[in-house]
Amino acid sequence: MPTHSKQNGAARISVEQARPLGHSILARGFFISFEGGEGVGKTTQIKRLAESLREAGHDVVETREPGGSPGAEAVRHVLLSGAAEALGAKLEAVLFAAARSDHVETVIRPAVEAGKIVLTDRFMDSSRVYQGVTGGLAPDFMTPLERATVNGMVPDLTFMLDIEPEEGLRRAAARRAEGEAADRFEKEQVAIHRKRREAFLEIARNEPDRCVVVDASADAEAIAAEIHSRVMNALRDDAKMVRKKAPAK
Ligand SMILES: Nc1ncnc2c1ncn2[C@@H]1O[C@H](COP(=O)(O)OP(=O)(O)OP(=O)(O)O)[C@@H](O)[C@H]1O
Ligand SMILES: [Mg+2]
Repeated sequence: MPTHSKQNGAARISVEQARPLGHSILARGFFISFEGGEGVGKTTQIKRLAESLREAGHDVVETREPGGSPGAEAVRHVLLSGAAEALGAKLEAVLFAAARSDHVETVIRPAVEAGKIVLTDRFMDSSRVYQGVTGGLAPDFMTPLERATVNGMVPDLTFMLDIEPEEGLRRAAARRAEGEAADRFEKEQVAIHRKRREAFLEIARNEPDRCVVVDASADAEAIAAEIHSRVMNALRDDAKMVRKKAPAK
């Protein structure tokens, strides 16, 4: 599937030309998603990356799923309250898709087309993993739903934050009570978390040009430095590609 980056080069070049000198050197916007299980550090790393990119002079939009736009935030309440869960995995998946479609069309695409860097806390891979793999929905249902929902707005880069499920759960639990052992329910959850971890890693193996697996067990500072450097390299490569594709004057 072609990504947005390959569809709209001309519009982005005009955005670059309209930028004041000394501002972002981006020839076009860029779309980055952060994925991984609970407590891996997605929110922590998005904040750090947004800060370091802004320091480098880029326009950055931070967003999250489910939610990220007024329409999607309304659906988020239904999803996170658990009301949809009882009505079946398909209904839940379609609600996620409705929220994502609104998020893509009203927030992500306009920002990318305006030359901004968009960072989203979860995106389509979370649906593949949570509704597809551990939710038990088959690819013949999930794949066309994803294609219609994303509508070409595939992330340019996806960071898969990867950690032992026990450690992720420990981090999440540490926010509640320090040093407390996992209870029976949390132990049951570990098997599901392990399955999700494997599913994220499989996506990364299948789409190596888009996905970067990051060892999320390192300290937050070191992870932030690695992510920042990967993004700067990707932006450099992308700018070269756009320049190559620009029509000769
Ligand atoms: N590299 C790290 N080392 C140790 N602790 C960390 C690291 N990164 C984040 N944390 C801590 O772990 C907890 C979970 O981090 P964070 O909220 O960023 O994860 P998340 O992936 O966004 O989780 P969720 O899926 O629940 O939203 C927080 O208390 C955070 O301060
Ligand atoms: Mg978070």
